[in-house]
Amino acid sequence: MATNKPKMEGEVFYPSDEIIAQANLKDWDVTAKAALKDPQAFWATEAENLEWFEKWDQVLDDSKPPFYKWFVGGKVNITHNAVDRHLKTFRKNKLALIWESEDGKTDRTFSYYALNREVSRMANIIKAMGIGKGDRVTIYMGRIPEIVFAMLACAKIGAIHSVVFGGFSVDALAGRIADSESKLVITCDGSYQNGKLVELKKIVDESLKHCPSVENVIVVKRTGQEIFMEPGRDHWFHDLCALPIANGKCATEVMDAEDPLFILYTSGSTGKPKAILHTHGGYMVGTYATLKYVFDLKDEDRFWCTADPGWITGHSYLVYGPLINGATAFMFEGGPAYPYPNRWWQLIERYGISIFYTAPTAIRALMRFGEAWPNKHDLSSLRLLGTVGEPINPEAWKWFYRVIGKEKCPIMDTWWQTETGGFMITPTPVVPLKPGSGTRPFFGQDAEIVDEQGKPVADGEEGYLVLKNPWPSMLRTIFGDDERYVSQYWSKYPGKYMTGDSARRDKDGYYWIIGRVDDVIKVSGHRLGTAEIESALITHPAVAESAAIGLAHEVKGQAITCYVQLKPGFAPSEELSEELRQHVSKHLGPIARPEEVKFIDKLPKTRSGKIMRRVLKARAQGLPEGDLSTLEE
Ligand code: WT7
Repeated sequence: MATNKPKMEGEVFYPSDEIIAQANLKDWDVTAKAALKDPQAFWATEAENLEWFEKWDQVLDDSKPPFYKWFVGGKVNITHNAVDRHLKTFRKNKLALIWESEDGKTDRTFSYYALNREVSRMANIIKAMGIGKGDRVTIYMGRIPEIVFAMLACAKIGAIHSVVFGGFSVDALAGRIADSESKLVITCDGSYQNGKLVELKKIVDESLKHCPSVENVIVVKRTGQEIFMEPGRDHWFHDLCALPIANGKCATEVMDAEDPLFILYTSGSTGKPKAILHTHGGYMVGTYATLKYVFDLKDEDRFWCTADPGWITGHSYLVYGPLINGATAFMFEGGPAYPYPNRWWQLIERYGISIFYTAPTAIRALMRFGEAWPNKHDLSSLRLLGTVGEPINPEAWKWFYRVIGKEKCPIMDTWWQTETGGFMITPTPVVPLKPGSGTRPFFGQDAEIVDEQGKPVADGEEGYLVLKNPWPSMLRTIFGDDERYVSQYWSKYPGKYMTGDSARRDKDGYYWIIGRVDDVIKVSGHRLGTAEIESALITHPAVAESAAIGLAHEVKGQAITCYVQLKPGFAPSEELSEELRQHVSKHLGPIARPEEVKFIDKLPKTRSGKIMRRVLKARAQGLPEGDLSTLEE
């Protein structure tokens, strides 16, 4: 145990002397204080560690808030820093990516040298399809190495990637392709989920009936089942690879720091999903620095982030962050418990994973199978653990700490969002931990908890979490909708970024996230919007109107309950309820499948016609229904 322990309230886990001794950054307070005093200086120093084709003239342009610009005038490319620059060093022959298939029969490894060839080949193919700077490309694949190549290849030639999670289905995919006006889709024939085949290409075919912008589809062969190929539109990746243009050399495009890198759709409080836009320069510096400090990356590390590249966690900390840092990233095609609940522990042992970053829901699910499963494996390679996606309950935290980390691995509970691009409230390995708290804001950031009017609340009291300082990896806008960007994030508390979360801060300055205050539901850490679920339900002939809410669930954190008002001529039944659950799963995706569909005669609404989901939620929980003065008669 460390000798200099500050006195703190509640249950505190102090970093060991061993952890402090090996940490790259030992003095959190000094760095935090300096960074808060001059955030631009902190970020400029971080940016200088990376390679720029031309240096920036201005670190931050805040002349037109909330349209902040970072590293203005700088010329850069994120793929240059994630791949190209390592080829000049010993990392050329270091493993960049290790992959194992769900069935455990195949592993594939790529050195930085090999990664560059794969990315370049893919980039040449995409370019040959007429894709260039600023064009959008939708990527819809399983967790296989080609998804990483596709993302980096788009970035390399200046195209904007839009990855859609492979667990989404037709409605979600079609909506995202159409909104982004992608000309190219990159997909696979299928993917595996717990031994079952997911027919990705079939879902693409269905979706493209509604997406006239798409000219070409590249199909990577993964599962090998028979699929439909539309002549002239669909191309097998392996056929394209045989063409002379598909060689392993491709120049990296020079981009402005503020040029778009990707869009990623995420659910907001109302309406259709928002296309969150991130840029080459700021996002690169943000993911680089946050990962380096929080997970204390060393060249010997093997870093495993279990997230799918279809979510921001996969973008920032499976693909970009580790590679920019020159780390070895591990990627696994499957999930935690197939075929047995020791699958992940087996992989940690097999590959000597030293840093393991996952979600509370997975920990809770695996906890239920008992300690015997992890105890079968040698987990001594682990040095640091991490969680993300939702608040972690102290019971799951302690299990993770004791059973997986053997009480020697600090847990980095990282709070952030699709919009923030990187960690915002997070410990580093030398920070004393309290189970369930993400501790304090990251370097350069200042968070506040405010009331409805925007006035800071007293420590210990619950309020709305806002961020006060701009940061490099912040979203720049909602693609194609600047107005919505302003109204969604910057209007309620002018000058401050509204996170959509409620939180409280304790006497030690530690932040405790309580949950979303809008219509976002976090199912197993996946972010879903009530509006998306309701629009899927409404396409069923029996449904007149519906409302979706999130209710507490032991493993998933939250699960979806839907209330459905039927059209005349339809009667409630068990079968219809099941049919509607299936309907959502088929249209939106299995991750959005409601736990329950209940029938209701009339949905509670305000006089102006807005559904009062909070009333439904209170009723379901047997809680007081609150202020009903606006409820329609
Ligand atoms: C929302 C953002 C960015 C990572 C994946 C989720 C919740 C995220 C934590 C955490 C408590 C958390 C918040 C946030 N959340 N991390 N460590 N503790 N809550 O990204 O899908 O954009 O969701 O996830 O509610 O607002 P996302």
